[in-house]
Amino acid sequence: AASDFVRIVEVGPRDGLQNEKQSIPVATKIELVNKLAQTGLKTIEAGSFVSPKWTPQMANSSQILEYLLETPPATPHPITYQWLLPNVKGLDNFLSAWQAKAGGDSGYPTPPPSPGSGATSGTNGSGAGANAHEISIFTAATEAFTQKNTNCSIAESLQRFEPIMARAKEAGLNVRAYISVALGCPYEGPNVDPHKVAELAVSLLEMGADEISVADTTGMGTAPKTAELLKTLSAAGIEKNDLALHFHDTYGQALVNSLVSLEHGIRTFDSAVAGLGGCPFSPGATGNVASEDLVHCFHSLGLKTGVDIEKLSEVGEWISYEIGRSNESRAGKATMAQ
Ligand code: HMG
Ligand code: MG
Repeated sequence: AASDFVRIVEVGPRDGLQNEKQSIPVATKIELVNKLAQTGLKTIEAGSFVSPKWTPQMANSSQILEYLLETPPATPHPITYQWLLPNVKGLDNFLSAWQAKAGGDSGYPTPPPSPGSGATSGTNGSGAGANAHEISIFTAATEAFTQKNTNCSIAESLQRFEPIMARAKEAGLNVRAYISVALGCPYEGPNVDPHKVAELAVSLLEMGADEISVADTTGMGTAPKTAELLKTLSAAGIEKNDLALHFHDTYGQALVNSLVSLEHGIRTFDSAVAGLGGCPFSPGATGNVASEDLVHCFHSLGLKTGVDIEKLSEVGEWISYEIGRSNESRAGKATMAQ
C-alpha cells in the first residue's frame, strides 16, 4: 500500500513571488522562508537563478541562499531548500554563493549528496543541523512554451542540462526537473500529448534527475486528463516515487487533480502558501494550489503531512498582507476565522 505520508514542496517563495510586479524586499522574502520553515514543511523552493532581465523579481535569490547558509533559522527538523535554474550560468551563480558559504574553509563542511526526501546532509551550524540544498531545472512539453520561457527548443533545453547535471552530481547536489505545460499550454492549447511528457520524463530520469515535477502551468488540467497523463507515465515505466505533481489552480481544479494523483499513488505535491503565484510566461494563469488547502484536504483523508495548518495559515495571511494581495487559500482563511 502507498505511504500515508504526503510530502509537500512549498514553492511560494519562488513560484509564488516571481510574478509580482513590485519589487519585494529581500528581507520579506527571507522572513517568508523562515516562517514557512517553522510550520512543519520540510522542503521549500526558496528562489531562482534565472536571468534578471526575464524574471527581475528573483534577482536577489543569491542573497537569500547566502543568508540561509550563514544564518539558517533554527527549525524543528532539517529543511531541504530548492533553487531553480535554467542554464550553466545559473548553476555558476548558485555554486559560487553555495561554495563560498557551505564549502571550503568557511567552517561549514561541504554537504555530501542529499537523499532528496527531506532528509539530511552535511551540517551547517543550525540548531537542527543538517539542512540540504538542491537544484531544479525546467523544460516543457511544448515547443512554444519552451521558447517563451527559456528562449530555446525542447531539444536545446535538454542539451543545456547535460553539463548542469554533470556538475551538480560532482558537487553532490540532488537535481529536480520540472516539465511545464503537461496538461495544457497557453500557446498550443489544452491538448498536450501525454506521451511527450512521458518521453521527456524518461529522458530526464536517464540523464540523472532525482525527481520529476510534472506541472500543470496553466491550470487547464481536469480529472480525466490528469488520470490519462498518470497512466501514460506509468505505462512508460516511470515510478510513482520519482514523480511530484505541480498544479496551478486557474480553473479551480487543482484539488480535484491532486486527489486523482493521490489515488494513482503520487505522494509528493508542490503548492504555494496563500495560493500565491503564476508564471510570467503563462499569461492568465493564476497561482499554485494553496498549501493550506492541500494540507487540509490530505489531513481530512487521514494522511500525514507534518504541517501545522494553523501556523501555515498565519503565514499565508501575513505574506498576503505584506505584498498587498488577497489570500487565495479558502482553508487558510477559514482556519484563521475560527
Ligand atoms: P537568453 O536571453 O536567451 O540568455 O535567456 P542569454 O544566454 O542570451 O543571456 C542573456 C543575458 O542574460 C546575458 O546578460 C546573460 O549573462 C544573462 P547580458 O550579457 O545581456 O548582460 N543570463 C543570466 N543572468 C543570471 N542568471 C542566469 C542567466 N542566464 C543568462 N541564469 C534564459 C535564456 C534561460 C537565461 C532566460 O530565458 C531565463 O532566465 N528564463 C527563465 C524564465 C523564468 O524565470 N521563468 C519562470 C520560472 S519557470 C516556471 O515558473 C514554471 C514552473 O513553476 C513549473 C510550472 O508551473 O510550469 C517551474
Ligand atoms: Mg509553477
